Amino acid sequence: MDKYIKNKNIILGVAGGIAAYKSVELLRLLVKQGARVRVAMTSSACKFVGPLTFEALSGQKVCTDLFEGDDASIQHIKWADDADAVIIAPATANIIGKFANGIADDALSTLILAVTAPVLICPAMNTHMYENRAVQRNIDILEGDGYHIMEPGSGELACGTSGPGRMPEPEIILDRLICCLTPKDYKGKKVLVTAGPTREKIDPVRFISNPSSGKMGYAVARAAEHRGADVILVSGPVDIMPPLNVKVIHTESAKEMAASVLEHFKHSDVVIKTAAVSDYRTKKVAKQKIKKTKTAMSLDLQKNMDILKELGKKKKSQVLVGFAAETQDLKKNAEKKLKAKNLDIIAGNLVGSPNSGFGTDTNRVTLFLKGGNVKKLPEMEKDEVADILLDQVKKIEKKK
Ligand code: CTP
Repeated sequence: MDKYIKNKNIILGVAGGIAAYKSVELLRLLVKQGARVRVAMTSSACKFVGPLTFEALSGQKVCTDLFEGDDASIQHIKWADDADAVIIAPATANIIGKFANGIADDALSTLILAVTAPVLICPAMNTHMYENRAVQRNIDILEGDGYHIMEPGSGELACGTSGPGRMPEPEIILDRLICCLTPKDYKGKKVLVTAGPTREKIDPVRFISNPSSGKMGYAVARAAEHRGADVILVSGPVDIMPPLNVKVIHTESAKEMAASVLEHFKHSDVVIKTAAVSDYRTKKVAKQKIKKTKTAMSLDLQKNMDILKELGKKKKSQVLVGFAAETQDLKKNAEKKLKAKNLDIIAGNLVGSPNSGFGTDTNRVTLFLKGGNVKKLPEMEKDEVADILLDQVKKIEKKK
């Protein structure tokens, strides 16, 4: 659960577009994150999805009419006052037009006028409507008034046309809401993150690698972006969605990763190296597939550059963080790497223990800090580990 969503009062405003069905999933995701969600719907939204669906999932009465219920005349003001954030999804051309011009002629448009919390607007409509000058003008007005506007996705639309106008997927809307609510203590900071495994080719069909999923590094990149940093993520081959608003550089071998990292290092304030870099590569990559001829074979390997150690030598004011996945003697091995690579923090974990290490969503990490302090964290989501790590980096930065 994200700490900026948990126990927060979120209003989900649903306007009348075909994408209203996706808002049901968005509501489910918000509830899963521990938010208290109240849903307000326009009368045309009720033609696409019944209020009962939203009522059942939110556990709260859905607001469709200003003049309904005992305290009807002030209900929208109370909701607006209580709100920590508002999402309008889908936002139709009509509701965008009303918001931009201060028109309050139904429950949703009246409620929004009374809201002082951040509002995230997710336009969804036919491409020509979206590109219409009046709609774009209204979107510009809302942006100028401090509303957060999401870009609609592009693709095939329900009306048969193709182009921008699709409502972003619920996971993406949730991510942007978290971003809206996260304090921007990394604003102006440049954070370089590495993630995933490297691949060292043996022949055209084989390579040396490891099971790193990239989840830890991607979580760090996402958390830093949420906190306002400019983030570059140098990633080995992984199978996960890249964080939004982050520059991702895809690499394969340790050599390629080293080249990208060294290029961006000098402009970085913080470097967090979660990547599981192969220590060796084959001396020669076979041009053709190696055939099995003998009962045994050996590979001739040569050492790769220790990228982090190289950064440790070049380091000026940067905060440098490494990760150490160990199978034994965590403290001894991690502290040795902390010193040898001239790091500020090394995050160590024992692989092989349940729910910790490669591929899992959780991790059990101990932070070893320069100067000898040790912080043992309990098992937690990698997103939470990322946030705590960034808190720690911030403290070090302040002392520098
Ligand atoms: N690392 C690196 N370049 C390498 C090897 C490791 O930049 N060629 C970085 C990793 O990204 C990680 C840290 O160094 O942040 C520790 O990696 P790890 O594989 O645990 O340590 P090694 O130094 O390779 O030591 P060993 O394999 O002997 O445990």
